[in-house]
Amino acid sequence: MKLPDELIFITNARMPVKTTDARMDGKVCIITGATSGVGYEAAKRLAQGGADLVLVCRNGGKADQVRRELSTHYGATIDVVLADFAKLAQVRTAAGAILERHARIDVLINNAGLHRTRRTLTEERLELVFCVNHLASFLLTRLLLDRLKDSAPSRIIQVNSDGHRFGGLNVNDLNWARRPYHGLWSYGAAKVAQLLTSWELAEQLEGSGVTINAMHPGAVKTAIGMDNGPIYRWYRHHVVNRFLKDPAIAGEALYYLAAAPEMAQVSGRYFNLTTDEPPASYVMNRDVGKRIWRISEELTGLADVA
Ligand SMILES: NC(=O)c1ccc[n+]([C@@H]2O[C@H](COP(=O)([O-])OP(=O)(O)OC[C@H]3O[C@@H](n4cnc5c(N)ncnc54)[C@H](OP(=O)(O)O)[C@@H]3O)[C@@H](O)[C@H]2O)c1
Repeated sequence: MKLPDELIFITNARMPVKTTDARMDGKVCIITGATSGVGYEAAKRLAQGGADLVLVCRNGGKADQVRRELSTHYGATIDVVLADFAKLAQVRTAAGAILERHARIDVLINNAGLHRTRRTLTEERLELVFCVNHLASFLLTRLLLDRLKDSAPSRIIQVNSDGHRFGGLNVNDLNWARRPYHGLWSYGAAKVAQLLTSWELAEQLEGSGVTINAMHPGAVKTAIGMDNGPIYRWYRHHVVNRFLKDPAIAGEALYYLAAAPEMAQVSGRYFNLTTDEPPASYVMNRDVGKRIWRISEELTGLADVA
């Protein structure tokens, strides 16, 4: 039985991940949040494929461990750039360091993300999940965009989530000041914002040789959510984890999206791992997309220089 578009993600979750033999030798690939889970698996697979890596991470100790492991096992050239995505000033500094140290960027994988059960505000008074999952990647991408264009053909991949289907985006209350906070909706809101702005960017990038696609990395066993309270951690560990898959599938899927020759011209699409999938209908609302684009520019200080 064929499911309707809104439910096709259930079928797609069982589709095999497409793979590619294409190599990435000499390609500079940036991955945010490469110290754990999906980002770590992507870094590992790209290192296997011969890529030069730039790992943008908040924890220097963990990043160094990944750098040592991947350079020892795969001989990969790895640069580490530190940034806490809860602090937009650090995202700017990281982008500056990348631009200074890397003459080209072939792939940017915006992966760093988190899920919070309680509302938390950053020092800049932004809701943490919205800031880390959406605003920081929006800002980083924009600051690196000219280098990506100069390096074309190049690819941007947004590690999004089927959690965007939880909804939750209210452009009049991005900080959850006027409604009860709910972790899943807040997570969904940030992912919706990222998708809406991805379609805007895809349109702006038409003809530039830079593609942008979003993907759901599967329901995979990672550390996400494990910095919440003990009850959530217990639930995640003893209940949710039983249903989750090996995160290596996410690394393989990201490698395919980053390296496969047949993906070179594909842009503005949403993938469940490697299966092209219609996202929730409300993330195709271009009016809201333009609004959240402007708001994201304002909140990240990009509007001041536009
Ligand atoms: N796991 C799933 O089933 C699933 C499903 C759908 C989507 N996703 C998405 O996949 C992406 C990766 O998540 P994951 O599941 O791999 O979780 P994870 O194991 O917790 O990894 C998250 C990564 O993001 C980094 N990060 C978190 N907060 C950060 C901050 N403030 N500044 C900089 N980096 C930060 C983490 O750094 P530390 O190591 O320092 O904590 C880590 O490297 C997220 O965007 C998530 O929404 C995951």
